[in-house]
Amino acid sequence: MSRRPLVAANWKMYKTPSEAAEFVRELLPLLGESGRADVVLAPPFPALEAVARILSGTQIGLSGQDLYWEDEGAFTGQVSGRMLAAVGCGYVIIGHSERRQFFGETDETVARKVDAAYRNGLTPIVCAGETLEQREAGETECTLLRQLNGGLGSLSADRARTLVLAYEPVWAIGTGRTATPEIAGEAHALIRNWLSRRFEGAAEEIRILYGGSVKPDNARALFSIPDIDGGLIGGASLKADSFAAIVAAAKA
Ligand code: PGA
Repeated sequence: MSRRPLVAANWKMYKTPSEAAEFVRELLPLLGESGRADVVLAPPFPALEAVARILSGTQIGLSGQDLYWEDEGAFTGQVSGRMLAAVGCGYVIIGHSERRQFFGETDETVARKVDAAYRNGLTPIVCAGETLEQREAGETECTLLRQLNGGLGSLSADRARTLVLAYEPVWAIGTGRTATPEIAGEAHALIRNWLSRRFEGAAEEIRILYGGSVKPDNARALFSIPDIDGGLIGGASLKADSFAAIVAAAKA
């Protein structure tokens, strides 16, 4: 089964609405024909609406970087899936390592957020990955399995069909230290294996992205690994030419 590659830009806490709008205007002509890869942009919340306006009528998807699991209520500072859907999001990133590291995200909150995403018609992009200490202690596999079981253990196979996963080794994020295609490939195979056991046939439809210092010069080698179905791009997604080059590598 061939999965269409997906390349998602995670802008983190960069770009005001006007900077984001200007960036997307610059990016669109560089992306070429849609069809061979899906492209998704995840701007910060205040820029979603400005970006949505420019993306309307294109094939490019819009994503939140997080959501809260309730749809509305007295939860100061939170943004719900219902709100993301209303401004035009089709996706939402859940469980990014920076959320886990700095904002108390746990596997349990990931599971609640995944449910809220589906309830609101959003495709979750669920992140998993080990820290350097966990890798060096030989705990990569058990860390990934714990995150998968905890975050996705109660998901139905029917919902899982549209799920997107991102393997993001924490030691490779923003460090310039990319996982080699072999290391990434091993982790992706492990994740695919878990998905097959958990969701059977639906596992073949689930895209597993690699994230962590993907750049134009390493994207092609990573994307050529059979279980790597695209990328979640941080730093290199903030420049139009480098992001467009990574999208081109996914289409190749
Ligand atoms: P990076 O970030 O590409 O800057 O390493 C990836 C991510 O955090 O999603």
